[in-house]
Amino acid sequence: MLPSLLVLLTLMPHAFAINPGIKASLSDKGLKYGSHVGASWLLEKTGQMVIPDVAGEIDIGIGTVHYWLTSMKISQINLPEPTVTFMEKVGIKVSMENLNVAVHGNWNTKFSFIKDGGTFDLAVINVGLSTVIQLGSDEKGHLSVANVQCSSSIGGIDASFHGGGSFIFQPFVHFFKSKILNQIQEKICPGIEKYVNDLESQLEKMQVSFQVNRNLSIELPLVLPPIIQSSDVEVDLKGVFYGARNHTDPPFAAGPFQLVQQSDLMLTVGLSEFTINSASFAYYSAGLLQILITDDMIPKASPFRLNTTSFGTLIPQLPKMYPNMLMLLRAYAAQTPTVSFHPDTTTLNVFVSTKAYGIKPNATYIPFFRLDMNATLSSKFFISDEKLSGSTALDNLTLTVGATEIGPFQTESLQKLLQIGIKSYLLPLLNKKLKDGIPLPTVHNVQWVNSMLKVNKGFVEIATDTKISLQAAKS
Ligand SMILES: *[C@@H]1O[C@H](CO)[C@@H](O)[C@H](O)[C@H]1NC(C)=O
Ligand SMILES: *[C@@H]1O[C@H](CO)[C@@H](O)[C@H](O)[C@H]1NC(C)=O
Ligand SMILES: *[C@@H]1O[C@H](CO)[C@@H](O)[C@H](O)[C@H]1NC(C)=O
Ligand SMILES: *[C@@H]1O[C@H](CO)[C@@H](O)[C@H](O)[C@H]1NC(C)=O
Ligand SMILES: *[C@@H]1O[C@H](CO)[C@@H](O)[C@H](O)[C@H]1NC(C)=O
Ligand SMILES: *[C@@H]1O[C@H](CO)[C@@H](O)[C@H](O)[C@H]1NC(C)=O
Repeated sequence: MLPSLLVLLTLMPHAFAINPGIKASLSDKGLKYGSHVGASWLLEKTGQMVIPDVAGEIDIGIGTVHYWLTSMKISQINLPEPTVTFMEKVGIKVSMENLNVAVHGNWNTKFSFIKDGGTFDLAVINVGLSTVIQLGSDEKGHLSVANVQCSSSIGGIDASFHGGGSFIFQPFVHFFKSKILNQIQEKICPGIEKYVNDLESQLEKMQVSFQVNRNLSIELPLVLPPIIQSSDVEVDLKGVFYGARNHTDPPFAAGPFQLVQQSDLMLTVGLSEFTINSASFAYYSAGLLQILITDDMIPKASPFRLNTTSFGTLIPQLPKMYPNMLMLLRAYAAQTPTVSFHPDTTTLNVFVSTKAYGIKPNATYIPFFRLDMNATLSSKFFISDEKLSGSTALDNLTLTVGATEIGPFQTESLQKLLQIGIKSYLLPLLNKKLKDGIPLPTVHNVQWVNSMLKVNKGFVEIATDTKISLQAAKS
């Protein structure tokens, strides 16, 4: 009984793995585009590629010829588009055929005391390559890669030597052709393996937590290994915001959600309401969602002042008890503001308490009352021209007296005034901004194309094509 219970316990973390807050998926179209950009990049880099010098010796029967091949540079390359596909449950398969490379360099030989030298051209024809990169994750939530399969082939090589006594040298070429061919072929897969291993050790060192601003950080480790299907790869990230000074988990958890695949677009990102609300909680619990309102913050032109005389129209007893006294308001979120996503609609619920004080001439404060406001706003968002646009409306606002030191009073007129203020002043300002659109955040040399946004139950999904410019990448 006990052993099986222990087995069960060790299995628990998997059974209760946390739901991701953010999901991102790369479609087959995105993978193909990425490999196309990668191949162009590689092609541009070949000019700068350093080929290590080669030294060797050949026994030509009457003695040993020592040779050196130096200053080798790729003079021509025919790099066909690689075929890149997802391999279900494994990773990515890359294969390439008919790669041709021409190399130009210097040769030197030493046979006994005879030294000679010149230039040479080497062509490696019909190089084929097939490799499988496995994708996974480590226990810290980094993406991990491993080269699990690799094979290469070379169709043939051709070498010609110029200068010096190359007319003596040239006839020997066909003798050691196969030796060079094998030497090159033996280096291809280990080269790829080394490259993948280097990438793996870089991924291992990558951060999974990022500072967003002075008050906020976000944790983005993988909560599961990447999910690889033949049509796409999906990564599931923790996606929790934390306060910069207080790493406390929010008192609510992420619910499950499924991306609605947009296979005709390259990239899809799903952002849960949980992730957004974790940011809200971080701000709320750090006490950042509060503001002091004083009379000098109210526009000079406003007839309504922040004093007991002005408040007399709403709370008649106030100016009688405290004539013509300046007031101070402290408004603060009394609960975490919460965003919730519903098909095509985003709602924001805020619960704000406002404490009102009178300011005595000797600068001490007298508490007057506390008002609690419960407001719900709803928004429609969409993306057009790679800008986030939308509109927001006030659904509901109720104002209640939370506490009073000046006796009971009615809140109807105050509530109406507040509703009018929000509807005719605050929302038009916000809606003007939303109508103009907020540009999508850009990443260095990546441009968003055909972006679209869809609000679903519990999460918002953004799907997009991208355009990567190599020109910008170089600068
Ligand atoms: C961070 O918090 C400080 C107060 O501690 C505030 O003044 C500042 O505006 C906040 N910055 C951001 C980016 O939220
Ligand atoms: C961090 O925030 C939590 C939740 O608001 C609070 O209970 C805790 O005392 C805070 N810790 C510190 C060190 O401020
Ligand atoms: C209070 O507001 C009224 C307008 O409602 C203004 O006439 C008066 O000067 C203000 N008093 C103080 C102390 O600011
Ligand atoms: C301010 O005045 C009130 C009486 O009006 C008094 O009770 C209070 O102690 C005074 N505070 C200071 C700091 O002088
Ligand atoms: C705020 O109002 C909504 C309904 O509009 C209600 O569901 C919610 O419980 C209220 N919040 C508080 C703290 O009273
Ligand atoms: C507004 O709040 C009232 C009272 O809480 C509630 O009965 C009503 O359904 C709410 N309306 C909307 C649109 O949420």
